[in-house]
Amino acid sequence: MLNRRQFLALGVTVGGAAALPFSQLIPADANEGEPIHKGYHLGKRVSGTGVRPAVTAFTEQMPVPPVVQPAQSASGVDIYMIPIRASTAEFIPGLKTPVLTYAGSFVGPTIRARTGRPVKVLYANQLDQPANVHLHGGHVPAVSDGHPMDVIQPGQTRVYDYPNLQQGATLWYHDHSHHTEAEHVYRGLHGFYLIEDPAEQGLGLPKGQYDVPIMLRDAEFDKDGGLIFFDDPANRTTILANGKIQPFFPVAARKYRIRLLNASNEHVFQLNLGGQEMVQIASDIGLLPAPVPLTELVLASAQRAEIVVDFSRFAVGTKLVLSNGSEPVLRFDVVREALDLSHLPATLRPLPPLPTATTEREVAMSFDLSSTSPVGLVNGKPYDPNRVDFQIKRGSTEIWNVINADAIEGVDIDHTFHMHMTHFRVLDRDGGKPPLPQDAGLKDTVRVPPRSRVRVQATFPDYLGKFVYHCHYLEHSSLGMMAQMEIVS
Ligand code: C2O
Ligand code: CU
Repeated sequence: MLNRRQFLALGVTVGGAAALPFSQLIPADANEGEPIHKGYHLGKRVSGTGVRPAVTAFTEQMPVPPVVQPAQSASGVDIYMIPIRASTAEFIPGLKTPVLTYAGSFVGPTIRARTGRPVKVLYANQLDQPANVHLHGGHVPAVSDGHPMDVIQPGQTRVYDYPNLQQGATLWYHDHSHHTEAEHVYRGLHGFYLIEDPAEQGLGLPKGQYDVPIMLRDAEFDKDGGLIFFDDPANRTTILANGKIQPFFPVAARKYRIRLLNASNEHVFQLNLGGQEMVQIASDIGLLPAPVPLTELVLASAQRAEIVVDFSRFAVGTKLVLSNGSEPVLRFDVVREALDLSHLPATLRPLPPLPTATTEREVAMSFDLSSTSPVGLVNGKPYDPNRVDFQIKRGSTEIWNVINADAIEGVDIDHTFHMHMTHFRVLDRDGGKPPLPQDAGLKDTVRVPPRSRVRVQATFPDYLGKFVYHCHYLEHSSLGMMAQMEIVS
């Protein structure tokens, strides 16, 4: 269990060199030795400086992040230029919040890519600190993966090559700079990267303005509208939908494809439309074999789910609230009739076959809470960029048994597991139990709740080199809960 001193240390470790108002991190009456884990978070719910933002629900329209146009398209390659820079955003009417951005917008510009057509993105780091970019869910060579130690120095530029040799999927890009990824992503270094493939286009799913990416994430604000980072993640109780607090979104009475991303550092959303049906068609890495009707969708940090909602079932004038549990997040207002030539086919796309696995490994995630600073561990060790934890033969298929190894009685610490470079299927949970609904499809991130284990199977094709795998609660990975594999020929 953490005591007050350890919690302060957690703040120091997470915060790095920044000047922290330590006294505000934890109430003076918190006692030495008092347990301060809460739910899946590490830390105590402290009476920090956060305030409930003064926003009237459903008064602002939810924006759709702008699609960035290529600066140049040459010989079948689209080239984009995106500055990484500080900016401001208006989350609370009348208040300017400092944020970090890709190209000036809190939800970065959406890159729309096509399978088989390469993209190059030139990022110019205009911040005063190192930053980088990881294409989450991207199957990319090591040199363009945004390895935590491979950063863009201030004033420098860097080109990332994305071959897009993968099926259509909702990916996202975000900072991955070692120890600062949690703060950078929290402050806004995140955006969508959507890959479309021709087979998927042939299905006739809703497209164009009826294909809407929505980034959901949490935040904690101070009274001046600033984003509070140096506090317990459990205090991030305000949810943003494409960067707005409880916005509305006008829709036509027809089918929509909605791409949901949980870009929170540490949060599990339980999404519902007030009991109305949402039909899930895709998870992290693209289409499911067939549509799955649901009334609740569980989405952990970094995961994506695509749903089709048929608003034609509702009369014009109907308002439908998307909630996280009982908390309203966003309201869809059915405002007009519209022609709908889109389809929701009964079958979508079969999953690739599972080749035979030749190696089984264990990956145990936990915290070392024995000293004043919590240290994140994978198989008992904090991340060391100079160490290769697993050496994997190119082309092989493996089963990883991913374990939430935190075992302090009365304390629940949640973890998630994310693998770079490749994708996986969830085989089972807790020694043979079937996967959960949210484990369906081709995945790159899976939740590993307290005292549980998940078996995943992955193939490691083509690319050689070093790639990380880690807990995607970014405070955890920035504290060391990360390791790396080297793919060898
Ligand atoms: Cu979404 Cu290693 O990252
Ligand atoms: Cu974790």
